[in-house]
Amino acid sequence: MKGPQMTAPQLIDPFQRAVSYLRVSVTDRCDFRCYYCMSEDMTFLPKKELLTLEELDRMCSAFVDMGVSKLRITGGEPLVRKGIMTFFDSMSRHLASGALKELTLTTNGSQLGRFAQPLYDAGVRRINVSLDTLNEAKFKQITRWGKFKQVMDGVDAADKAGIKIKINAVALKGTNDDELHDMVEWCGTRGFDLTWIEVMPMGDMGDADRLDQYWPLSDVRKQLESRWSVADIGLNTGGPAKYVSIKETGGRVGFITPLTHNFCESCNRVRLTCTGQLFLCLGQEDEADLRAALRDHEGNEALNDAIRAAIARKPKGHDFDYSRQKIAGEMTRHMNHTGG
Ligand code: GTP
Ligand code: 5AD
Ligand code: SF4
Repeated sequence: MKGPQMTAPQLIDPFQRAVSYLRVSVTDRCDFRCYYCMSEDMTFLPKKELLTLEELDRMCSAFVDMGVSKLRITGGEPLVRKGIMTFFDSMSRHLASGALKELTLTTNGSQLGRFAQPLYDAGVRRINVSLDTLNEAKFKQITRWGKFKQVMDGVDAADKAGIKIKINAVALKGTNDDELHDMVEWCGTRGFDLTWIEVMPMGDMGDADRLDQYWPLSDVRKQLESRWSVADIGLNTGGPAKYVSIKETGGRVGFITPLTHNFCESCNRVRLTCTGQLFLCLGQEDEADLRAALRDHEGNEALNDAIRAAIARKPKGHDFDYSRQKIAGEMTRHMNHTGG
């Protein structure tokens, strides 16, 4: 019998960073159309382009065998991929073996009503739910197609199933800046962590709009301090967020600051798309096609070689920059392609 797998990181990039975190976008489709993520008339990939669930399994398992210990399933909206629970159920064997420390997902929450319990049963203990506002009208404006109540019910279902929840909010000046304290309070009361994300120049939104919307998290922090007792804490969830604690609520607030503070020096992750391309950085074009290596060979040798070769060219970091009142480093790729 095979013993517990070794999880020592084997994927080391040219900057001596160990890659231990794989984000996998299992579909580019979504039941929402958040304006900072997608255009309303998105064309999606033909189904035949997608990796099958079996191929996704083989791909992820190869990474796990090479020392990846955190797997985050994303999309699009991962829970709209047909048969996705089969994939989660199958991945749970890597939790059982000890090779995987965390199996998790980032979701818009819409499908949690039906999937929260099965996800818990597959070993998911913590999820990130994207929710930028607590105001139903604003929610509609941001997500275009989203149903607020459905998301709230989904969040309740996950909470009830015993899954720990982190709310991800994109910081949008003029949209949710007036809700900072309400969100902190609501999350505190519910026992959820809350993370703010600086809006990144991805997709095809106009430069002017994106700059107008940009709400630097240094300012969010100042505003937080004006109302709450804020203390830095050293929490590291393996992602890029830096956290503070809020004394009054006992809750934690995180900041993901691709613009004001570049966190690339400690980057530990790569992103696999639903078509089997490996993106080596969210903010760069570098990619490697792993699908051919997977499909054209029965064994994993070619795939493992392709993974190693890709990691060997992981770039140092992204070049997003708004500091000259003009956007630099933007990507034409939409966020649903790489899963954020
Ligand atoms: P935790 O495991 O809870 O720490 O989650 P996480 O922050 O790793 O994952 P999540 O999906 O919640 O990430 C939130 C958002 O942060 C993503 O959707 C991206 O917008 C942004 N983000 C995450 N990783 C990176 C990164 O490597 N570079 C950049 N520029 N942004 C990132
Ligand atoms: N900038 C920052 N975050 C974004 N997300 C989607 N598009 C952007 C963007 N342009 C976030 C979502 C979600 C995660 C998957 O990515 O709100 O939390
Ligand atoms: Fe869907 Fe998330 Fe993109 Fe919104 S941000 S359209 S919920 S993938």
